[in-house]
Amino acid sequence: MPGTRTSDVKSFTTLWLTLLSAGLVIAGAARAVASGGPQTQLALTPPMGWNDWYQYECKVDEKAVKANAAALVSSGMKAAGYRYVNIDDCWQGQRDANGFIHSNSRFPDMKGLGDYIHGLGLQFGIYSSPGPKTCAGYEGSYTHEQQDAETYARWGVDFLKYDWCSASQVYSPDQMQAAYRKMYEAILKTGRPMVYSLCQYGLEAVWRWGASVGGNVWRTTDDIGGDGYARVSMFGFQQNGLEKFAGPGHWNDPDILQIGLGQLNFDEEKTQMTLWCILAAPLLAGNDLTHMGQQTLSLLTSAEVIAVDQDPKGVQGQRVWQEGPFEVWVKPLAGGSKAVALFNRSLSALTITARFGDIGVHDRAEVRDLWARKDLGVFNDGFTAKVPPHGAAMVRVKEIR
Ligand code: GAL
Repeated sequence: MPGTRTSDVKSFTTLWLTLLSAGLVIAGAARAVASGGPQTQLALTPPMGWNDWYQYECKVDEKAVKANAAALVSSGMKAAGYRYVNIDDCWQGQRDANGFIHSNSRFPDMKGLGDYIHGLGLQFGIYSSPGPKTCAGYEGSYTHEQQDAETYARWGVDFLKYDWCSASQVYSPDQMQAAYRKMYEAILKTGRPMVYSLCQYGLEAVWRWGASVGGNVWRTTDDIGGDGYARVSMFGFQQNGLEKFAGPGHWNDPDILQIGLGQLNFDEEKTQMTLWCILAAPLLAGNDLTHMGQQTLSLLTSAEVIAVDQDPKGVQGQRVWQEGPFEVWVKPLAGGSKAVALFNRSLSALTITARFGDIGVHDRAEVRDLWARKDLGVFNDGFTAKVPPHGAAMVRVKEIR
């Protein structure tokens, strides 16, 4: 280059190399955000674990969380697939002069608690809000998103439930997606994978955009507790139609299991477990695991029922037939068979038939009772069961070709 000094060429080259590598970094970061980066391998099946809210509300403390984590292991729930030990609201203390959040006196050592949970081979979940305050009035993450994500990463957090609450005072509904994306990007920046659980009660049709802001699960409903079967069944059955939004890494969440909380009778609890598994919903137990009856444990750990929820095909089931309070739901499974659930929402025992034509089975099929873990034989045309009031039956149907 006539008239060009070597040093100019050098600085020109350096400039281009700098711009090029900056471009690559920016492109890389953009890809990481778009693809979820370290988040992409999370929740390939619906998350399973425990959440303290319904048992303890704000009376939760470190002792209770540790005891429940230990019980998750000793009861056999860990072996059945439950992994996350999630602290809900009310753990937060004050921020320090630099803006970092600290836990309150009920949780003297969050890092130690995380280590304890990890030492049991389990995963550690925590809770915050995009707003200034949580629903129970504790410190939220508003304007401290990155600091909080870094604190959670330091504590070894693996799961964040992010609850809208007071965010409605600082954001308009059309800013909701950006508010959720902000915390997602903050998590990404820490480099620590965390299952990201959106909780905003299904507002703004969250199922349409939850995955695009990094959500692995999103609550589709208001809080499920406090009104027994009426609320559990209303929220559970109204998931029909949302199946196209669920899949590996991103799931509809109709809220915490009410099993063992004294709100439902046995058949109603069986209905919730059956329905949540057909829905491929997260399975978060909400009861006191340290004082759990055999019946509760058997409902929570029924292996073949859980296998439906955790099926690797990752399809959310849907209703295929309804006649008043009687319903048949189907969930296609990996390998070609189908999980079929028969629900009786009435107050009298009734016989319900799942016709093979309705569930996409065209010939004879082998039927296995998944709760009883028993082969029932080969059936033509359909399968009929007597289902108790507010009860459910669940079978696997395998077409014989
Ligand atoms: C609600 C949320 C519940 C629980 C509670 C804690 O908004 O839906 O699941 O987290 O806040 O205050």
